[in-house]
Parts: sequence; C-alpha cells; structure tokens
Amino acid sequence: MKGKTVLVIGATSSIARALAHQMAQQGAALHLAARDGLEVERVAKDIAIRYQAPISWSSFEALDYDTHAELLQKALDYLGRLDGVVVSLGELGDQQKAQVNFDHTQNIINSNYTGVASILTHVANYLEQQGQGFMIGISSVAGDRGRQSNYVYGSAKGALSLFLQGLRNRLTKSGVHVMTVNPGFVDTKMTFGKSGMFLVASPQQVAAAVMIALQKKKNIVYIPWFWFWIMLIIRSIPEQLFKHLKL
Ligand SMILES: NC(=O)c1ccc[n+]([C@@H]2O[C@H](COP(=O)([O-])OP(=O)(O)OC[C@H]3O[C@@H](n4cnc5c(N)ncnc54)[C@H](OP(=O)(O)O)[C@@H]3O)[C@@H](O)[C@H]2O)c1
Repeated sequence: MKGKTVLVIGATSSIARALAHQMAQQGAALHLAARDGLEVERVAKDIAIRYQAPISWSSFEALDYDTHAELLQKALDYLGRLDGVVVSLGELGDQQKAQVNFDHTQNIINSNYTGVASILTHVANYLEQQGQGFMIGISSVAGDRGRQSNYVYGSAKGALSLFLQGLRNRLTKSGVHVMTVNPGFVDTKMTFGKSGMFLVASPQQVAAAVMIALQKKKNIVYIPWFWFWIMLIIRSIPEQLFKHLKL
C-alpha cells in the first residue's frame, strides 16, 4: 500500500472506515467520499492525524448519478493519480416494506446496485486507460441466492456481483484487478439490533481479510472464509426443495 492512492466510496460505512484505517496505516494516500459530508470530514481528519497520512474528502450521493464523473475528477485533483477504488455502501432496507412499497424497493436496488454500477463505470474507464489499478466492490453473501427474508437487497447485491464479474472479465487484459468481497454478517450500523445474526465478524476483521485478499489478487472472497462453504451448501440445495424452506 505504500505510496498507493485510493478512492474510498461510502467511507462512513463501518467496513470502509476500517479499511481506510488499515490502508492509511500501510502508507496509502486516500480520498474519502460519503453522503454525510460532516461525518466523512471527521473520519478523514481522524485518519490523517493517527497515521500522518494525506487524506482528502468529499460528499458523494450514490443516487445522484450526474455527479459521479465529478467525484472521480475531484479524487484525481487531490491524489494526482488513482491506483484503486473501494466501494462499500448500500441500504439493507426493510423487506416487508419493500413488498408493498415499490419506492422502497427502488431505493434498495439503486443504492446497492445502480448507484454503485454508475461510479464503478467511471472508475473502470479511467483505470482501463491507465493500464493498471484495482477495484474492490463490497457485495454480500445475500447476493448468492434469493430468499424470502431479504430478496430485494439480495437481488441488488447479486446484480452487483455479476457487474463486478463482468468488469473483471473486461479489465483483466488491461492489468486492472477487480475483487468482489462477500461478507457474511458484520457488526455494523446496518445490522444493529437485527435478529437471526450468527457468526458475526467485526468490521476490522473484514478489513484485515480484504487487505490480505487484495495482496493475493483474489477475484472473489468470502469473509470470514467459512462463508464460502456455507454459501456453497446453500447454492447446492435443489430449487424444488429450496422453495419450501423458510429462509
Ligand atoms: N453489515 C453486514 O452484515 C454486511 C454484510 C454483507 C455486506 N455488507 C455490505 O457492506 C457495505 C458496507 O456496509 P456496513 O455493514 O459497513 O454498513 P453501514 O455502516 O450502515 O454502511 C452503509 C453505508 O452506505 C451509505 N449509503 C447508503 N445509501 C447511500 C447513498 N444513496 N449514497 C451514498 N452512500 C450511501 C451509508 O451512508 P450514511 O452513513 O450516510 O447512512 C453508509 O455509509 C454495504 O455494501 C453492505 O451492503 C454488510
């Protein structure tokens, strides 16, 4: 990470925050972007002081697609060049509400998928032209199979995983590494107070595993690792049986 320049989007999210700390500690210069302008400034100043790292920040709203090119330009203005991007944002939403309110469904889909696809498109074109770099997208194990308890969020994450897979297939020849991160349950604002959580990881654990996976140039990583096996089992259940399960 020493000397690398990274744009961290969704930087007030617990996972991105933990990643930003670890990247700065390892010598990266960061541009942090998040929709809460005051909070992202606090996060940036805290990291800058702790690690004596060059950190800049700006506001970013995933649903304001027209502003996304501008965010990339701002990051480039501050950092000089860009070696990588991390996108870690979204809304879990309320599945029950989404079933009767399409505006809510749309908000979940747009914040987890459409908005992320938009900013990733700008960064992908830049990195492709540059001929090197990395892109990290935080997706979810929820995107691996549709379940009645959260299929709206899951479908957006599934779409994001496919988008990242396509980018990887497109950009490998240009020397750009695209990594899909599928965390299981993580103890963050998103899951605070939710029932039915098990094997919960901390954002710091997730960030540490992402850093190792990035170094190893992994394509798709499940965090913690055992979620790979859990999801392999879940994906292997025949649909004929799966449709009767209460999951
Ligand atoms: N926690 C888990 O168990 C878990 C599991 C698998 C995957 N993930 C994924 O991990 C990523 C990070 O989430 P987290 O767990 O760290 O939760 P979090 O702390 O709640 O972070 C979610 C972030 O998304 C931002 N956000 C939501 N809608 C946005 C929009 N329209 N424009 C810009 N920013 C927006 C939020 O901004 P505000 O701070 O302004 O609200 C917040 O910073 C997400 O992609 C999430 O889906 C989480």
